Amino acid sequence: MTDRIVLAYSGGLDTSVAIGWIAEATGSEVIAVAVDVGQGGESLETIRQRALDCGAVEAYVADARDEFAAEYCMPALKANALYQDSYPLVSAVSRPVIVKHLVAAAREFGASTVAHGCTGKGNDQVRFEVGIQTLGPDLKCIAPVRDLALTRDKAIEYAEKNNLPIETTKKNPFSIDANVWGRAVETGFLEDIWNGPTKDVYNYTDDPAFPPVVDEVTISFSAGVPVAIDGHAVTPLEAIQEMNRRAGAQGVGRIDIVEDRLVGIKSREIYEAPGAMALIAAHRELENVTVEREQARFKKTVGQRWTELVYDGQWFSPLKRSLDTFIDDTQTYVNGDIRMELHGGRATVTGRRSETALYDFNLATYDTGDTFDQSMARGFIELFGMSSKVASGRDQRAAEGK
Ligand code: ARG
Repeated sequence: MTDRIVLAYSGGLDTSVAIGWIAEATGSEVIAVAVDVGQGGESLETIRQRALDCGAVEAYVADARDEFAAEYCMPALKANALYQDSYPLVSAVSRPVIVKHLVAAAREFGASTVAHGCTGKGNDQVRFEVGIQTLGPDLKCIAPVRDLALTRDKAIEYAEKNNLPIETTKKNPFSIDANVWGRAVETGFLEDIWNGPTKDVYNYTDDPAFPPVVDEVTISFSAGVPVAIDGHAVTPLEAIQEMNRRAGAQGVGRIDIVEDRLVGIKSREIYEAPGAMALIAAHRELENVTVEREQARFKKTVGQRWTELVYDGQWFSPLKRSLDTFIDDTQTYVNGDIRMELHGGRATVTGRRSETALYDFNLATYDTGDTFDQSMARGFIELFGMSSKVASGRDQRAAEGK
């Protein structure tokens, strides 16, 4: 039987050309697999048909939107995952779910190898291949752009020569990756890091400088996950979609950073993640209300490590799994409502309400109703400062040569 290769297929120029390119270079049959993670654009059926027209022996499309939202975006929300305090892991969280479907397709179609369209300079090649190695240790990986010299110019030439049903003239200056958690834009004039982003960079967000009227929203959470918006029950996917729409209209969640890639290169990225950034802001504040102080402090460190692992392509690693267990445990009481104002690029929390709050009005108040015995504070401070005070006495004696 002819060897078979499963290709992660986007429907774009590079992966369309890759179908024939891989087949010619390796003598294998190519099976195209497209995964819908809420990137929008063309219908999956159009993409499936194009793959077949470009020479794929089989084309398989998976609607992974709900799975992606519930099992990949929600853990990122629970972790408040922001790489370098800024980037909500948009591309990084999508790779593992795509990998899962690629490996499943490789099994179903009897393929020995999985191919992807990444270059040799980015994080995504690592995320794909580490994921594939982990879920399918017997599978081989190949990246035509990186391993089979499939450059952009050659792709255009190949598509034209072979009359592939794909646009080759429309020159998109950017490299874009999108899903329901957000959108990443790089390359082109953005590579000069002094250049400001132009309007055409953005698609999920409107200009925050000219916002519509304030949009007040109430998000209800259960165990750290949004379950209702303004009182209407939502699935994780619906929660993200609705917040993308509403926070996006206010220009919330535009991010422009120079980021440290795993491969050691610093790169300039523009992201827009209105839903993710608004949900993280709401979730964080509900944690402030419901998570015990020491657990909360430690969780910050855990969340940061979780974020780095996921950024670095370690989604399926044992450490990431262990940290998930910790994070899930911290979310037990993250229940309640957060009211926010979305306006002019900001998502500002204005109210919180929780049956499982640790906020205690009678402890906090300076007004009548105070149940806190202030006289206890003196002794506490005495003991709390004891260790430093003893050391300071020693330091003074030493300085005086006694
Ligand atoms: N730098 C980001 C990451 O590694 C985004 C990469 C997305 N790819 C793209 N073609 N813009 O997660």
